[in-house]
Amino acid sequence: MEIIKTGAAMTAWSNEKIAGGESIALVPTMGFFHAGHLALMAAAGKMANQVVVSLFVNPIQFGENEDLDCYPRNFAGDCELAEQEGVDVIFAPSPVEMYPPGFQTAIEVKKLSLPLCGADRPGHFTGVATVVGKLFNLVKPQFAVFGEKDLQQLAIIRQMVGDLNWDIKIVGHPIVREADGLALSSRNSYLNSEERQTGLCLNRSLELARQMAGNGEKSAARLIAAIKKNIPSAVTIDYVSIVQADTLADSHEIDQDSILALAVKVGRTRLIDNGRILLPEDRRQKAEDRKGNT
Ligand code: PAF
Repeated sequence: MEIIKTGAAMTAWSNEKIAGGESIALVPTMGFFHAGHLALMAAAGKMANQVVVSLFVNPIQFGENEDLDCYPRNFAGDCELAEQEGVDVIFAPSPVEMYPPGFQTAIEVKKLSLPLCGADRPGHFTGVATVVGKLFNLVKPQFAVFGEKDLQQLAIIRQMVGDLNWDIKIVGHPIVREADGLALSSRNSYLNSEERQTGLCLNRSLELARQMAGNGEKSAARLIAAIKKNIPSAVTIDYVSIVQADTLADSHEIDQDSILALAVKVGRTRLIDNGRILLPEDRRQKAEDRKGNT
């Protein structure tokens, strides 16, 4: 596995592979790998014959009071895990390599950046879109794999790639969870054992939404109210929303594309989670019911 630290060397590597007829899949990350990242790398390996993992804690996507300085890092451990996963290149540029003095350009995906996490983290998604755009230009992948835990990020990147006519297939990978349902996240390392238990309220909220919808509840407002009631008082709710998968517009009635999206603070740690409310079986059943009614 090669470790590449400059944009010029990265693009030279990619140009050579592309000239040799090889395909490249990119997994953009901020490091501190867990099983969720490794699943993205494994998926990338099935799409292309070269896998590049970018490892860059992107300063411009952190707000002033956020955790840039203490964001967990383990470069040597990450390289070892990536190598075991069969990754071909770790692209790990420095902040000054990505944002040299005088840098002044940004990519803003306007509407999709406003709701959900965007409301609480102004500028965050512009930072994400800008760095991902730069990574796409430097690495020149045919495929890029992102986790579905960052639902809004994935929608924004899909929109950006369409709007800017990049010929890159964006692949969303299902959320990887611990056995007890906690969605994997590098930020879980901030949680003490009590907070970790409290964090399970996210997954329980998804279960509650699915159970209520399975019992026939169609009103998003009633689901949201029931979920909020069930979240422990020690938790600060940033949002509990039910939105359409691609547009992130509010769902008023639960349908096949309705997603429950949640963000909470447990202690000082911000956790997010999301999932379809109607599972494939329920969705199939609802479609059949509809057919029967026409
Ligand atoms: O999801 C992440 O880890 C980051 O937001 C990303 C996509 C690597 C951009 O910095």
